[in-house]
Amino acid sequence: MALIALGVTGGIGAYKAVEVARGLQKRGHEVVAIMTASATRFVGPLTFEAITRRRVITDQFEPGANADIEHIALASSINLLIVAPATANLIGKFANGLADDFLSTLYTATRAPVLVAPAMNTQMFAHEAVRRNLETLAARGVRFVEPGEGYLACGWIGKGRLAEPDEIVAAAESILHPAGPLRGKRVLVAAGPTFEDLDPVRYLGNRSSGRMGFAIAEEAERRGADVTLVAGPTSVEPPAVRSVLRVRGAADMHRAVLEHASAADVVVMAAAVADYAPAEPARQKISKDVETLTLVLKRTPDILGNLGRQRLASGKGPLLVGFAAETEQVVERARAKREEKHVDLIVANDVSRSDAGFDVDTNVVTIVGPEGSESLPLQSKSRVAGEILDRVERLLLKQPVVSHS
Ligand code: CTP
Repeated sequence: MALIALGVTGGIGAYKAVEVARGLQKRGHEVVAIMTASATRFVGPLTFEAITRRRVITDQFEPGANADIEHIALASSINLLIVAPATANLIGKFANGLADDFLSTLYTATRAPVLVAPAMNTQMFAHEAVRRNLETLAARGVRFVEPGEGYLACGWIGKGRLAEPDEIVAAAESILHPAGPLRGKRVLVAAGPTFEDLDPVRYLGNRSSGRMGFAIAEEAERRGADVTLVAGPTSVEPPAVRSVLRVRGAADMHRAVLEHASAADVVVMAAAVADYAPAEPARQKISKDVETLTLVLKRTPDILGNLGRQRLASGKGPLLVGFAAETEQVVERARAKREEKHVDLIVANDVSRSDAGFDVDTNVVTIVGPEGSESLPLQSKSRVAGEILDRVERLLLKQPVVSHS
């Protein structure tokens, strides 16, 4: 999580900065909004205050806000300064070191990376004065999100429209996580339980919260991976990774995972997939008119096992990571599962422990890989995610099994 200063200047695209703030927050960052005087004529500071849940800085000399010389305090604590939209005026001030308001003062005071998303009329954007200022800033290491082409508010059609909020958020992420070790890798994570419907109102489910898989998806994205998360019906909200696909039953999950696995470099099956599903779910609600009820269940497809078999048969496919939720002989069973399912890593956990497994934020795991098993101490699921991905990275370096070449 980073602390990001979001500067908003007076352009018609100022409303899009609200979406930028939301996008950054969804990715777990704290946002402090700084509005220039003219920005407040396009969007009210209250909008940003409500979104960021922080005071919006609109004035350099606001009484009561100077005890700690706010621009200096903020300058040293932010991880990134973004300006979106950035007007020609602001770009000129940044390029020439003018510091006559909070935002321009913050720029000269901070050593955090700076990302600028210009937005202005096409002619202004092409003007030599603006181009020179942009070049000066680029030479100083400022990064840019190029404006888009299209219909501008001033009636012109051309280059100058503020880039889309998700492009700005993606650019911010790539600055915050430069060349992450999983950069360029596609990671598919399946997480959470599956629900197998018995009738229109009842299902067979399990206690998986999805937390472990979510932590892996989040950590993989933090390391630069392009993450697709296939999530069962979890009570916990999934993280805002690039793509989240919601599924319900094991059959849905099987379809979704198989569809995306061929393009993936790594597949992590952290889901607690039901092993059995009702052979024929009742179309109508089952009524309690019998004393004992017998359900006929049939095996669900073994998703990880199928991926392992496919890879063995074709000689190519993603790196495979599975989990083994056990209550006894944890490591022995995990070893056996690794062999049976032809996977690279099995993360075994003893779900009979109260501080590990279902519905808690901590986990105790043993990772079984090609070189044996390693038992890790009790730690948060996000740290466990890091440990798993450290091993995934090492394996990717050793055996780059690429499926989508
Ligand atoms: N798994 C899967 N498809 C299934 C069942 C399990 O892909 N239908 C995956 C899980 O996501 C996990 C691994 O296989 O990564 C092992 O799951 P687990 O339930 O521990 O083992 P099972 O293979 O189901 O074997 P058993 O229940 O007999 O221990």
